[in-house]
Amino acid sequence: MSNDLEELSSKAATEIEGATDPRVLEQMRVDLLGKKGRVTELLKQLGGMAPDQRKAFGEQVNRVKETLSAALERKAQQLGDAELARKLASETIDVTLPGRGEDVGALHPVTRTIRRIERIFNSMGFESVQGPEIEDDWHNFQALNIPESHPARAMQDTFYALDGSRLLRTHTSPVQIRTMKQRKPPIRIICPGRVYRVDFDRTHSPMFHQVEGLYVAENVGLADLKHDLMRFLSLFFERDAEVLFRPSYFPFVEPGADVHMRWGDRWLELLGCGVVHPNVLSAVGIDPERYTGYAFGMGVERLAMLRYGVDDLRLFFNNDLRFLEQFR
Ligand code: DAH
Repeated sequence: MSNDLEELSSKAATEIEGATDPRVLEQMRVDLLGKKGRVTELLKQLGGMAPDQRKAFGEQVNRVKETLSAALERKAQQLGDAELARKLASETIDVTLPGRGEDVGALHPVTRTIRRIERIFNSMGFESVQGPEIEDDWHNFQALNIPESHPARAMQDTFYALDGSRLLRTHTSPVQIRTMKQRKPPIRIICPGRVYRVDFDRTHSPMFHQVEGLYVAENVGLADLKHDLMRFLSLFFERDAEVLFRPSYFPFVEPGADVHMRWGDRWLELLGCGVVHPNVLSAVGIDPERYTGYAFGMGVERLAMLRYGVDDLRLFFNNDLRFLEQFR
C-alpha cells in the first residue's frame, strides 16, 4: 500500500475511534467517503493510471474504504447506544420518592350553610328552586306588594341598571313570585341564592345570601309557620331553640313577624316571616279566598356566623385561606 494511503487510513481510523459526538462523526464520514471525500477523490484518480497500477491501487483504496466504512458504522452504533443509555439514566422517575402532598379542598362555609339549610327543608318536603339575580321592578317589588315609598326601593339600597329598567334583586322573595306564576298550589319551596344591597360594614356586605321559603295550599296558617320554623331551627342548631316571634312589618305578608332566638343572654334576630298577603296571591293569579300560605326569608351569613362563631361577616368574602381552612 502506498504510504499516503496507509497514513490516511490509520489517521482516519484513530479519529473515528476517538469521536464522542455523533455529529462530528457524521462530518468525518462526509469528509472521507462523501461525494467529495478524500477516499472518493482517490478512486477518481484511477482513470488516469496505467492498467497494472490501477488494479492494485483500486483494490487497496477499496479495502480502506470498506474498513473505514465499517469503523464509522460501529462507532455510530456505539455513540447511539451511549446516548440512549444516558437518556434512560437521566430521565428515570424515582417512584419511591415521597409525594408532593396535594391538599384536599373544602366547601366554603356559606356553601356548607346553604346545603345544611336545604338538606333540612328538603327533608321537610320543601323543594329547592332558583331564580335570576338580575330582576325587574315588578318581580322584586310590585308583585310583592312593596309600595312606591318603601325604603328598599331607594337608590341608596338597590343596585339599579343604568337604564333604570333592571336591578340586582335585593332579596330572594321574587323567586316566590316566579314560582307561583308557574305552578298551582300546593307549593312548598325554598329559594337559596345571592342578593345585593348597597351596604357594607361588619355585619353587611353588598352581596350576601338568603334562603326564601314559601308554602301555599289550602288552610296553611301561622301555626304551620311557627311549627315548621321551630323544627328547622332546632335541627339547624342541634338544640331545642328558644324562639321568639315578634310582630313586624313586611309588605308581602300579613301578619308579619321577626323571629329571634336566644343566644346566651341575648335575643338575636334570625329571619323575617309571615302569612302571605292576599295582594301577593292575587298578583300571581292565585285565589286568596281559597288558598293561604306562609313565607319566610333568612340571611345565610347570619346563620353561618352563629353556627361557626364568626363575628365579622366580611371574613366570608375575603378569601383568606387561614380563615377558610378552618372549615374542613
Ligand atoms: N325579603 C325580606 C328581606 O329581604 C325577608 C323576608 C321577610 C322574606 C318576611 C319573607 C318574609 O318571605 O315573609 O328582608
